[in-house]
Amino acid sequence: MANLKVTFLSLLVAIQSGVTGKNDWSKACLYGACSFDIDESPASMGGTIEISGPVSAISDITSAAGWRILNCTDSTNSQTIRLACVDDSKGCAHVFQGGVEDTIVRLPIGCGSGPFVRVANHWISDDQSLPSDMNSKFITRDSPFPQVHMLQVDDVFENMTKVHGNVSFEINAQGDLKTGNNLSKRQNGSGFTNNSVTTNSQGVILFNETLNCPNMAIFPSMTGAIDLSSEYNITVSMNLRGTMNPPSITFLSFSAPTDATIQGSFSMTLPLQGTVNAIGEQIANMVLPSFLIDGIVTVNPSFAVTANAIGLVQLLTDFSGTIDFTVNVDNLQFTYPSNDPPATVSVSIPSAPFDGVALPGENSNAQFGLNAILQLVVEVSAFTQFVDLSVSHNIGFDFELDSTPALGNNEQVCIDMNNTFALQVSNSGPFFQVFGCANSQINFSNEQSIISDRLRQFLAARLQFFERKIVSVVLRLQRLRNLSFFSEETYHDGNV
Ligand SMILES: *[C@@H]1O[C@H](CO)[C@@H](O)[C@H](O)[C@H]1NC(C)=O
Ligand SMILES: *[C@@H]1O[C@H](CO)[C@@H](O)[C@H](O)[C@H]1NC(C)=O
Ligand SMILES: *[C@@H]1O[C@H](CO)[C@@H](O)[C@H](O)[C@H]1NC(C)=O
Ligand SMILES: *[C@@H]1O[C@H](CO)[C@@H](O)[C@H](O)[C@H]1NC(C)=O
Ligand SMILES: *[C@@H]1O[C@H](CO)[C@@H](O)[C@H](O)[C@H]1NC(C)=O
Ligand SMILES: *[C@@H]1O[C@H](CO)[C@@H](O)[C@H](O)[C@H]1NC(C)=O
Ligand SMILES: *[C@@H]1O[C@H](CO)[C@@H](O)[C@H](O)[C@H]1NC(C)=O
Ligand SMILES: *[C@@H]1O[C@H](CO)[C@@H](O)[C@H](O)[C@H]1NC(C)=O
Ligand SMILES: *[C@@H]1O[C@H](CO)[C@@H](O)[C@H](O)[C@H]1NC(C)=O
Ligand SMILES: *[C@@H]1O[C@H](CO)[C@@H](O)[C@H](O)[C@H]1NC(C)=O
Ligand SMILES: *[C@@H]1O[C@H](CO)[C@@H](O)[C@H](O)[C@H]1NC(C)=O
Repeated sequence: MANLKVTFLSLLVAIQSGVTGKNDWSKACLYGACSFDIDESPASMGGTIEISGPVSAISDITSAAGWRILNCTDSTNSQTIRLACVDDSKGCAHVFQGGVEDTIVRLPIGCGSGPFVRVANHWISDDQSLPSDMNSKFITRDSPFPQVHMLQVDDVFENMTKVHGNVSFEINAQGDLKTGNNLSKRQNGSGFTNNSVTTNSQGVILFNETLNCPNMAIFPSMTGAIDLSSEYNITVSMNLRGTMNPPSITFLSFSAPTDATIQGSFSMTLPLQGTVNAIGEQIANMVLPSFLIDGIVTVNPSFAVTANAIGLVQLLTDFSGTIDFTVNVDNLQFTYPSNDPPATVSVSIPSAPFDGVALPGENSNAQFGLNAILQLVVEVSAFTQFVDLSVSHNIGFDFELDSTPALGNNEQVCIDMNNTFALQVSNSGPFFQVFGCANSQINFSNEQSIISDRLRQFLAARLQFFERKIVSVVLRLQRLRNLSFFSEETYHDGNV
């Protein structure tokens, strides 16, 4: 490797101003700062990375600095680039200031998988031939240094020496995920990316356990299903600060102002007995536009809906029911993790009908929990670490039934049903200096008892059906006695 010393051009570049514009390819980054912008598109969030540091630490090998790239690939940052100085008046020599190695350079379009790399090695190319289209007017005849250089570059920032001093960066990225956003669902070589968050899943079976009852002609099934549709308008915003040398993230701020409407229903049929443990059933999953500065930071948002059902049913309980729900989330605003300004949201959960039939046997017992989690997950990876930031909306339904023998020939049945809604913003684990461990800072939750204010309505509406149903199952449940429901109300069904 030739150890080239070039100092004579340093003065030339020291007198110009240090402003770089929005991907201004006409101005070279020779003054200790550089920026790179990405426009919002179907596959990408929009945003900017700005880097800054000592003048010798940041340089440029685009045509703005007088360089012409002779071979290069955009498939990776790690490569050896053959390049020639075609206009040394523009500042080609700047890259050699203070030593070329470990200088962070801006690459031209079509070169490198990211905009900035570090120079790992430099030498003079043995092959000084130039492409035929580069005629002699480009060649400075009395230039004291060879024209064709080789730069070995990569994004192994952790291997950088302290020669040039620290280089810091700041990223601001934003993605608008809104219905009616006309960037949505355009095809891209690697598939579809969604620019709006709407889901629609009907009749998704969460569990279906066929019970094995030797004396029955038809084996009953214990089933649970969910219908769920949602529409979200979200603007994902990320502000990150850190250093490339040494590679680190020192500050992170995440926000995702959101309006959402979530609608659906849970339904279940629980005959006889059994257990259900259906955890993490995925009912929707979509990839959203990402923000990629390869070698430094990647922000990958996605949206998923999962459902869980867990329950235990004992001793001839028969229960079937459908609970409808609607949740409106208006103007959720948060800044994570600072919580400054404090998060705000307005959540409304209009009352919705519950339809159910319960035929409890003696000493029967059932406990059930069903929930759906709608979650925006933003995976942030920087250098060698990553963290998931999530905004989750959790809609749940808890049900409990107990029947115990009571005075006389009666059976007392106690039913308790709650509706829950919880909203949480969290990080999955540690991340540089930003997060020490998994945490959740913003919790909104709401629990409503369905039974207390709806029991009367439920019983009145279902009584007739109830009687017919009892007739049809009375053979199966010989020991069924008078039912009394109570929570706030007590009801005796005298017709059994
Ligand atoms: C450019 O050419 C040199 C040899 O001329 C080769 O070693 C290097 O890998 C090439 N780089 C790319 C990116 O093709
Ligand atoms: C980075 O440094 C490690 C340890 O010093 C070394 O093994 C590795 O080869 C270096 N990688 C590059 C690309 O310089
Ligand atoms: C460079 O970074 C190191 C590690 O983050 C820090 O200790 C040091 O103070 C920084 N130097 C300057 C000049 O900012
Ligand atoms: C979306 O853009 C396409 C053209 O790209 C246009 O034909 C279509 O009408 C637009 N739709 C909406 C809802 O604006
Ligand atoms: C598809 O999207 C990816 C990023 O998700 C992008 O890198 C690639 O260039 C896009 N391909 C086309 C054909 O637009
Ligand atoms: C549950 O499974 C049984 C047997 O596999 C089937 O007959 C029944 O239709 C299923 N029920 C639902 C709701 O899918
Ligand atoms: C989302 O934005 C669209 C267009 O502005 C609007 O029609 C829709 O009602 C919004 N949805 C929600 C849930 O706020
Ligand atoms: C986009 O959303 C649709 C449903 O709206 C889904 O089927 C598709 O898989 C999503 N695409 C990606 C890449 O997530
Ligand atoms: C319903 O909520 C009440 C009050 O929070 C609680 O005591 C009860 O255990 C809950 N019931 C169920 C089935 O979770
Ligand atoms: C059911 O309750 C009614 C009124 O409380 C009572 O008259 C009747 O005898 C009861 N039936 C049985 C089977 O216990
Ligand atoms: C939020 O809720 C989670 C559990 O759901 C709890 O661990 C965390 O401490 C709560 N955070 C706050 C600020 O209340």
